[in-house]
Amino acid sequence: MTPYGSLRTHGAGILRRQDDGERVTLAGWVATRRDHGGKAFFDLRDRSGVVQVVAESDEALDTVHRLRSEYVVRVTGAVRVRPEGMTNDALDTGEVEVAAGDVEILSSSLTPPFPLEDRVDADETMRLQYRYLDIRRPSVARVMRIRSQVTGVIRRVMEANGFLDIETPLLTRSTPEGARDFLVPSRLQPGSFYALPQSPQLFKQLLMVAGMERYYQIARCFRDEDLRADRQPEFTQLDVEASFITEEDIYSLHEELMATLWREVLEVELALPFPRLRFDEAMRRYGSDKPDTRFDMELVELGEVFADTEVGVFKGALHAGGSVIALCLPQGGSSTRKQFDEWVEFAKRRGARGLAWGVVESPTDPSGQEGRGSLRSPLSKFMRPEEIAGVLSATGARPGDAVFFGAGTTRPTQELMGAVRVAMAERHGLIPDSLWNFVWITDWPMFEWNDDDKRWDAMHHPFTAPATQWLDRLEDAPGEATARAYDLALNGTELGGGSIRIHQRDVQERVFTLLGIDEDEAREKFGFLLDGLSYGAPPHGGIAFGLDRLVMLMAGGQSLRDVIPFPKTQSGADPLTAAPAPVDDDQLAAVGLRTLPPSAKG
Ligand code: AMO
Repeated sequence: MTPYGSLRTHGAGILRRQDDGERVTLAGWVATRRDHGGKAFFDLRDRSGVVQVVAESDEALDTVHRLRSEYVVRVTGAVRVRPEGMTNDALDTGEVEVAAGDVEILSSSLTPPFPLEDRVDADETMRLQYRYLDIRRPSVARVMRIRSQVTGVIRRVMEANGFLDIETPLLTRSTPEGARDFLVPSRLQPGSFYALPQSPQLFKQLLMVAGMERYYQIARCFRDEDLRADRQPEFTQLDVEASFITEEDIYSLHEELMATLWREVLEVELALPFPRLRFDEAMRRYGSDKPDTRFDMELVELGEVFADTEVGVFKGALHAGGSVIALCLPQGGSSTRKQFDEWVEFAKRRGARGLAWGVVESPTDPSGQEGRGSLRSPLSKFMRPEEIAGVLSATGARPGDAVFFGAGTTRPTQELMGAVRVAMAERHGLIPDSLWNFVWITDWPMFEWNDDDKRWDAMHHPFTAPATQWLDRLEDAPGEATARAYDLALNGTELGGGSIRIHQRDVQERVFTLLGIDEDEAREKFGFLLDGLSYGAPPHGGIAFGLDRLVMLMAGGQSLRDVIPFPKTQSGADPLTAAPAPVDDDQLAAVGLRTLPPSAKG
């Protein structure tokens, strides 16, 4: 195939000064049309960019006058350098124009419901309803191109490392990744359902049992969960599994992959290897298992400073075995009372009882004391001088800074202060946006206690291997056991996660038992995996990355909806096709179903 197709000779966006005099045939869309000084101009857009066309013959002039936005045209003419003073720096092709003797309308268009420009404030639902127009906007088209480049590089790097691209089924059984399943009723077995995969997890493990050794797939996954900017019900993973490996193999392969992606797509050299943080250290210092390390503002544990305190909330938290955690906002002292109140509200919306705060005042201040400074705070009258001194020294807060305190059960308080840290840094513009801070999070807990159901849940998924030193004594202290699990976070977003897996059937059965999955249920749900593990399963492990998240971060998007060609809205709808939609009773009957009126649903 010719580079631009047989209907044209060049791409509109590639023409430059050195093409002066070249005869070209272009085809594309009418971006804008204008009449100027008796001449008729329009901008012609195709995937490669935009160039100005000017009608050179009476016939062409006639046709150009009939053009409207988004008509599809084909023009033939000569490239010429624009006269002095008429160039357009905003366009890559701004030094030239095409003098068209011939303009042919290939297709007409209705007036688009919103202007197809980079800066549109059209309602998103409207843009998604006409997504094929939205994608014509150069900024969206650019993201589609980046996405394709990213998958191209991924395939090259994975193939070069001996990985095979192997497909796994979409009509399958539930794979537990912590979300609800999308179900597909079976016509041939009425009353039975397939589940769309939450991930290819079990199949990729079985491919290791099958001796494939190195598998990857750019895999579509489905999770029926509440949607957020970084979650879609249908999303894409780069899914990877390999045999006879350790964590180090996973780290080095994916560091190479990320470095190649950043080099080839963004022309950025990443520093390798990526830093690593143990899960408990990430929680302690950043209050997050996906810490944004582009800025400091680290959390500070104040348990020792307030060990004998009379400040009620702190005392209560520490006596109950919890924590008091502080965060210093540099120069935050100039915040207004209203701004402090807003942070308190922020904490309450996240389920905290409150958020204490104080402003560090200089020691020369009339109310101040000797030393680094004093703390003006609704709580300071309850704090002893040595406690105030302890806060200032532990947080390193200087006069003019503000210190915020959270108190309560340790993990939720860490998470709260972690969320406050990021929100404050965003609000105060403290996050440098030129950095790419990758960090591996390692040594995850194996289980977390589910207080609602009074049982242990798998922190990653039930197929994750415990750390070797826990293998024989998992049952002794499930809450303390660590897993051979790892995540890769980038600038505060979880990009991917995985683990070395359990490859011995008896260990897998013990983990199921710990998770409250009895033998019958294990057999019923995961019998095929347990069987697989009984036929010579090699040690293996893997990881999966959110491809949409990766592209979103690389392309500078705000939402996964920016980088998925045909995404769903917040309510899980596709405004373009109006999915999901009711179906005929006949279709339902064929799969043995009947719908209940909405009021009768459980
Ligand atoms: P996990 O559930 O952590 O692991 O998913 C891996 C990565 O997939 C992305 N992701 C999502 N992206 C968009 N929308 C969603 N709803 C969504 N959910 C997850 C995230 C996440 O880091 N089978 C394991 C991997 C393994 O152990 O190998 C798994 O799926 O970027």
